[in-house]
Amino acid sequence: MSETIRVLIVDDLPETRENVRKLLQFESDVEVIGQAGTGEQAVEMAQEHRPDIILMDINMPGIDGIGASQKISELVPTTQIIIMSVQSDSDYLRRAMLAGARDFLTKPFGGDELVAAVRRVHAKRPVIRSMAASGQTAVRPGVPQSVAAPAEGYMLAVFSPKGGSGCTTLAINLAISLAMNKHRTIMVDGSLQFGDVAVMLNMKPVTSVVDLSARDTEIDADLISSVVQVHRSGLHVLMSPPRPEMADVVTEASLKVLWASLRQIYDYIIVDTTSSLNDIALSILDEADRILLVTQQNLPSLKNVSRFFDLAQSLEYQQKKVWLVVNRVSPKQGISIKDISETLKRPVLMTIPEDDVAVSAAIDQGVPIVTGSNKKRPVGLAIAKLAETIDSELNKEKTDGATNGQAKKTDTSGLFGRLFGKR
Ligand SMILES: Nc1ncnc2c1ncn2[C@@H]1O[C@H](COP(=O)(O)OP(=O)(O)OP(=O)(O)O)[C@@H](O)[C@H]1O
Ligand SMILES: [Mg+2]
Repeated sequence: MSETIRVLIVDDLPETRENVRKLLQFESDVEVIGQAGTGEQAVEMAQEHRPDIILMDINMPGIDGIGASQKISELVPTTQIIIMSVQSDSDYLRRAMLAGARDFLTKPFGGDELVAAVRRVHAKRPVIRSMAASGQTAVRPGVPQSVAAPAEGYMLAVFSPKGGSGCTTLAINLAISLAMNKHRTIMVDGSLQFGDVAVMLNMKPVTSVVDLSARDTEIDADLISSVVQVHRSGLHVLMSPPRPEMADVVTEASLKVLWASLRQIYDYIIVDTTSSLNDIALSILDEADRILLVTQQNLPSLKNVSRFFDLAQSLEYQQKKVWLVVNRVSPKQGISIKDISETLKRPVLMTIPEDDVAVSAAIDQGVPIVTGSNKKRPVGLAIAKLAETIDSELNKEKTDGATNGQAKKTDTSGLFGRLFGKR
């Protein structure tokens, strides 16, 4: 590593600061540029020296480490903060992340652990931040500018009440197809703890939705463009965090702010949603203009989908909000598409053929079907057609001036509260 990582150590105990300094002194790529004994001093030194990393103690007299982190995140967004604390419970972690911290070290820690955290956080700094620090223009190539969006974009949640139905596969390929058709499109991994989007796109989760959700307030286009990553196809991607516990920071309220901001910038927001209906997943379905409900030609899938339609009715979703897509369609399967449609009393928007070879090659190689050598196979063509159908349906609606199918409720009392609250 050629770049030197400039570090500020903040702790009220001089011996702790000295110990931390000693742990870093032989690292050629790390330079300790100063030490602060209070939160106030940390804020001042951060503004003056603009370090790359601050190692921040939590318990200090005066402004504590959380308060100082909050101030520094606002005043010097190029600086990344790592909290050092004897407390390692999730509440502390959550508070630290909300204050803008990027990582957390539990005291006592060893040199290897410390150096690894410093390098990891530095490597994961949002691109815009390093650009700003070096005085370059803070815009990444290919990131759409906020002024251009004429109207609010559509949000589509790809969901199945049964795991393994193909949501991630369809969401990714749909999003790429839309992006390749010149629609400003972002794929958001709504499976916050164990998302697969980064792996399937062969991208590193360098930045994630946590980098935006940790700030409940303003999320402007510059901040979004610093966190969003661009896939080779031109698709913008907002990944799930690299560690499951970091997902704790994301709340329904922070997501609401995020969706509103993304709608101003993108034509399409495609969200891969978990099968388990926790409050976050439910808030995504509520917020979405359309839900692509993915099912397969087997009884357990259809039973779950039928139950979901009941739930959608109880939640007062308009019928047109849910689009049914049957995945892995094969003539070998017993239940025909006609039977599925008749049994569920819903039209099937699109069928996607089963193609084990193309789909597993895409996953193994990290090259999505619609961009790879198999894009002309029926599965690739069907997903491309799905993208075109969705676009033309929504455009039709826009020109008809119809209202969207979104549930307009703001009730956030959770699934059970909402269902039982009605009775
Ligand atoms: N059309 C298809 N043809 C063949 N295999 C498919 C097809 N669609 C998906 N699969 C396979 O099904 C499996 C599950 O797909 P995927 O991970 O996209 O589903 P998911 O609904 O996101 O699952 P999870 O609930 O784990 O998030 C994968 O192994 C994938 O290769
Ligand atoms: Mg998935």
